[in-house]
Amino acid sequence: MMDIRCEINGRVHDLTVGASERLVDMLRDRLGLAGTKEGCGIGECGACTVLLDGTPVASCLVLAAQADGHRILTIEGLAAPDGTLHPVQQAFIDAGAIQCGFCTPAMVLCAYALLSNTLEPSEREIRTAISGTLCRCTGYVQIIEAIELAAQRMRQYSQ
Ligand code: FES
Ligand code: FES
Repeated sequence: MMDIRCEINGRVHDLTVGASERLVDMLRDRLGLAGTKEGCGIGECGACTVLLDGTPVASCLVLAAQADGHRILTIEGLAAPDGTLHPVQQAFIDAGAIQCGFCTPAMVLCAYALLSNTLEPSEREIRTAISGTLCRCTGYVQIIEAIELAAQRMRQYSQ
């Protein structure tokens, strides 16, 4: 066991974690942040993606102990405190980019990370940003459209 301190969705947490405890389990089982999904458990599907210091990581491959001293963002941390959805979340709804929703938290976080770096991503950059996450429902077209829509709206807000 080891004691860690990390920031999760803007709040500092002090936790005692097991040596082999995975980040996905810490988030889901211990903190109740069940928006982070587990699909394959071996780093293939991307459903468990969270942002570690702003970078997408597969939380099934990261130990909880590795979060020590770092900043984690999960899908629960994206909306405003009053519940207003982030533009990326709203764009996914408006573009019809959600079917079963299992991949959606990961897709949204990957899009958020991309748009944090550029508000004018090319389609290739969007495809690359979501390439680590599998969607078995949408065929990806609406997801790409949603990210383009979010970028367009965020450009307008930033003017
Ligand atoms: S559950 Fe982590 S990559 Fe599939
Ligand atoms: S919406 Fe079902 S896996 Fe993507």
